[in-house]
Parts: sequence; C-alpha cells; structure tokens
Amino acid sequence: MADSKASLSIDGNVIADLPILKGSAGNDVIDIRTLGSAGYFTYDPGFLATASCESAITFIDGDKGVLQHRGYPIDSLAKQADYLEVCYILLNGDAPTKAQYDEFTNTITNHTMVHEKLVHFFHGFLPDAHPMAMLCGVVGALSSFYHSDLDIHEADQRMRSAHRLIAKMPTIAAMAYKYSIGQPFVYPSNELTYAENFLHMLFSVPAEKYVVSPTVARAMDRIFTLHADHEQNASTSTVRLAGSSGANPYACIAAGVASLWGPAHGGANEACLTMLEEIGSLDRVDEFVAKAKDKADPFRLMGFGHRVYKNFDPRATVMRETCHEVLSELGIKDPLLDVAMALEKVALEDPYFIEKKLYPNVDFYSGIILKAIGIPTNMFTVIFAMSRTVGWIAHWDEMLGQPGQKIGRPRQKYTGEIDRKFIPLSDR
Ligand code: CMC
Repeated sequence: MADSKASLSIDGNVIADLPILKGSAGNDVIDIRTLGSAGYFTYDPGFLATASCESAITFIDGDKGVLQHRGYPIDSLAKQADYLEVCYILLNGDAPTKAQYDEFTNTITNHTMVHEKLVHFFHGFLPDAHPMAMLCGVVGALSSFYHSDLDIHEADQRMRSAHRLIAKMPTIAAMAYKYSIGQPFVYPSNELTYAENFLHMLFSVPAEKYVVSPTVARAMDRIFTLHADHEQNASTSTVRLAGSSGANPYACIAAGVASLWGPAHGGANEACLTMLEEIGSLDRVDEFVAKAKDKADPFRLMGFGHRVYKNFDPRATVMRETCHEVLSELGIKDPLLDVAMALEKVALEDPYFIEKKLYPNVDFYSGIILKAIGIPTNMFTVIFAMSRTVGWIAHWDEMLGQPGQKIGRPRQKYTGEIDRKFIPLSDR
C-alpha cells in the first residue's frame, strides 16, 4: 500500500510521482515500476539500493547488527533452538509446537536417503574434483529423480521438494567428501540428530565405530543455524531469479550452490583458511594486514567485511563465542588458530578496518571452528550450502506463492555500438 509519494524531477520537470511503500521494518521503498513508461530506467549494479522483492522471511538492520528470522532474533535461535526448528520457522513462519517439531523432524529424517542410482553420478567425477563441483552437479541431477512432484504451482509439492532438499543435502555433501578421499559412502542413520548424522556420514568408516562428540555436534548444529538464511544475498537472489522462470527447485538450488561458491560469498570460509595457511605464522600477520590495506594490491582479508553489516555481524558474535568454546572444550592447539586470533585482534584495532567498518564476519569464525573439528577446508563452503538450502527454498516457495509473480528481468544501460553497417564475410 502506498503511504506517500516521491516526485522525480529532471531539469525541474516532474516526470513521475512514485509511490513510497512501507514494510513492517527497515527502509521504505520507492516503487519505480512505472518509471519505464516515463522513458527512464534506474541504474544500480550490485543492488546497492534496490529491493528486488517483497519478503516476510528474514529482516536485517545492518547498521544496528540485527538479524531476525520470521521476527525471532538470531542469537535466541542459535542458543535456544536447533537447526531443524529454525528450518521449520523459515518455511512455515512460526515456531513449531512440540508435536509439529516432532512431525517435521520425522519427515526430514525419513527423506535422508538418496536414490541408489545417484551414486553413479559421483563416479563420473575425478577424485580431486572440488566437492562444491560435485554438489552443484548432483543437486541439479535430483530433478531427474523426483519429476513426479514438480508442479511448482502446488504448495504441497513445493513443500515436499523443500523437505527432500533439506534432508538430502547432508547425504550428498558427505558423499562428495567420501568420494574425494576414496572411502565408501556412509548411509544416513535415523537414530541421530541432523548434525550428528552429518558428522557420522562424514567421519565413520565400516571398519570402525565413530562416536559423535556432543561438543562437535552442538557446534555443527550452530553453524547450520547461523547460515540458514540471510535475506536477499547473492545466492538467494540467484535462486529467486532462476525460480522466477518456472525452473524446478533442484535446478534452482544448483544455481544457488554455484552462486555461493565465490570467495566474496560462501567461498569466504575456505578462502579464509587458505589465507591463514598462507600467513602461516604470527610474525607475518602485520605484513598481510598491510597488504590488505594497500590499494594497489588486490588482496583482501578474507572473512572480514560485509555488504550489509556496517556495525557487527550478529552471526559472528554468536559464532565467536562458539569458536572459543569449541577451542577450549576440545583443548585444540593449532598454530593456524593462533594466527587467526592474532589477525582478529590486529584488524579490530587497526584504524583502516575501523574506519571502513570491516569486522570479522560469520565465515571468519565458522572457518576456524570447522578446521578445529577436523573438517577439511574444501568442505567448508559445502557446509554453508547445505545450511543455506532451507533459506533458498523458503524464498523460492515464498516467491512462487505470491500473486502476480513475474519473471525476473533486469534492464541495462547499453554502452555498445549501434546501427553498424554489416559487411558480409566475403567482403571483410
Ligand atoms: N579486506 C580489506 N579491505 C576491504 C575488505 C577486506 N576484507 N572488504 C572491503 N574492503 C575495503 C574495500 O577495498 C573498499 O575500500 P575503498 O572504499 O577504499 O575502495 C571498502 O572496504 C568497501 O568494500 P566494497 O568491496 O565496496 O564492499 P562491498 O560491500 O561491495 O563488499 C564484501 C562486501 C563482503 C564482498 C567485502 O567486504 C569482501 O570482499 N570481504 C572479504 C570476503 C568475505 O569475507 N566475504 C564473506 C561475506 S559474509 C558471508 C556471506 O554472507 O556471504
């Protein structure tokens, strides 16, 4: 509903009266949809000030460091709920009753196995393939197994796809890992919690019993929770854009996985560990901080900065606590973790990072925790993708449930040649 209007004048002439729309929180938005008929488009590469949709799932106030899912603050969710409860909230809008939670958990648990034929897809990959490459390909392939439930206009079928994806992503992620290290795939175990089951599929082997540490399972569940959704980030926007054409959910999630992979987004946790390895020792921290500040050097401190959070990343606050808990509970001593802690201290006190409001983000601490609990670096982004699947699918479902949903189709400012005379190849 329009509460007021913004007049847009060019050279003193009003060319459009644009409605200003209010959300339930956050910035008001100027509805520019009619601007095209006045002969103008808006220009906002990188979406610095463009709301691409209406959504009731996640709210972020980057200046105040606020993140809420369906109105529930992230720190309460991380400390008082488990990941599947958060998944339920993201998909359904409200916290579940005990009966709803049990039913949801049961549904997810009963969908964790994948079709045996899916195993063959893995064998097509080279053993040194990055697990994100496998995830991307295999998730897209799921659409060929579940085509009977792919009517995206049916809310029940959309929800069934959502449940399948949340349930099967850990199985596929663990298979990617097992394949890359040449170990047999481990089937899911329905007696375990979501986080325990993932650790079991990653670390158990037929020859030996694997006992899941409660500290590690708790940390893993928290990592899942803190990555579950983050409103219209690059990968979620990718999923929405792919879904806006009517593409099936598995293909859309594969698009999300691809978008997440980059080091400026979900690939940052892996890039952060690679950077810590490159720094290598405490005496080189200052040198790398100087490199990050040097405009002529493209190097950035991975795991620092965020497009939206210009105060602190509330996920990082919880993750930092978990990180220190895990390191001390597990009594882990690793020189790389000392480098990470020194880097955190130097960057937090450095005027460059203070002025530009560059704080450690969630991926800085999640990378350290994952390393501490023995997860190989190339699996970090895979874990992010698994955790974010619920966010992607919740946004996809929300979009398809909205009346008048249109295909996403940005415009452009054209800067190429125009009206050139074409000379046939024989005359060129
Ligand atoms: N190290 C050094 N300088 C930085 C960094 C960094 N990590 N991040 C930003 N800057 C500087 C940048 O050079 C620029 O300086 P100037 O104004 O002098 O040109 C200024 O800070 C603003 O940077 P920007 O690239 O315009 O900011 P952005 O909002 O477009 O980018 C970002 C945000 C997250 C891509 C960026 O901070 C970055 O590349 N960080 C490292 C990668 C990373 O940790 N990404 C994970 C984000 S959290 C997980 C997720 O949600 O995906």
